[in-house]
Amino acid sequence: MIKDFQLGNDMEQPCLVRLQKVGTSSNGKAYAKGLLEDNSGCIPFICFEAGPINRLRTMEVPSAYIIGGRVDVNKYGSSTAGMNLQVVVHKAVPAGPNDDLSSLLPTGHINREALEIEFKTLEGRIQDEGLRRLVETIFSGSLYTQFLKNPAGMRLHHAYVGGLLHHTVSMARLAVAMGKTIGDVNLDLIIAGALLHDVGKLREISSRLGFPYTTEGRLLGHISMGAMLVGRVGLQIPELSREKLDQLLHILLSHHGDHEKGSPVFCATKEAFIVHYADELDSVMNQFHEKEGKDPWEFNKMLQRYLYKA
Ligand SMILES: [Fe+2]
Ligand SMILES: [Fe+2]
Repeated sequence: MIKDFQLGNDMEQPCLVRLQKVGTSSNGKAYAKGLLEDNSGCIPFICFEAGPINRLRTMEVPSAYIIGGRVDVNKYGSSTAGMNLQVVVHKAVPAGPNDDLSSLLPTGHINREALEIEFKTLEGRIQDEGLRRLVETIFSGSLYTQFLKNPAGMRLHHAYVGGLLHHTVSMARLAVAMGKTIGDVNLDLIIAGALLHDVGKLREISSRLGFPYTTEGRLLGHISMGAMLVGRVGLQIPELSREKLDQLLHILLSHHGDHEKGSPVFCATKEAFIVHYADELDSVMNQFHEKEGKDPWEFNKMLQRYLYKA
């Protein structure tokens, strides 16, 4: 990570490259210079090698590259904020679809380890054997690895690495509290519904730079994709009754609460209302997490109104 760079280090990692200039120095040598960024910080770079310069000069907007180089003294840099170092770049390759760029994405300053423990605890609280096996089967393997890093939204809410895990755990916490307070509800269905409600987002929104929507996501949407996945896996689990599976699918399909917001059915059970309101409340509360300027009044795109952030 950039913040750990020390004089003389050899480095190779994904970086967001901001190209400032491609030029020719007084001795006739071509060079490229600019800034390298990751989640931890920013450092200037200089490059004198023709291959990397030619690859960098095609860049129109700041882009992700796999950068290799050596950390050196920046003779012309200011001495504040550790900017007296620079990377002398000898490798610059545009990042490909298989490169892990999570170190370049916004992190949202959450404690992912603690959230993961809480997620596992919630999963373990499901007493119904069939529902628990369903949740455990879905959140396993590569889908689970992806769940730990995906955002919950591209821009509107929880748009950072681990955002979906954060949103899922905090809305499940609210749903359980509401369920317990209201009483006479099926807590297993509430927990399973809460943990699975946005699972379709794993295929709807990519965890790559900029969190783009996938083609499948634009065509099908996370509500249908989540319901199809849960339906498919649910039918393979012998301990899960068809009636329970339908109750769970109802929670997933109605969790946006309204046709206009993308739900094909309205909430018709106590458990579905609870998961819906927990989902809505958590995404609204997340709007207060970050404050942009000094003015306490900030216009909020998701809610289309000014919010007061004292
Ligand atoms: Fe959703
Ligand atoms: Fe949600």
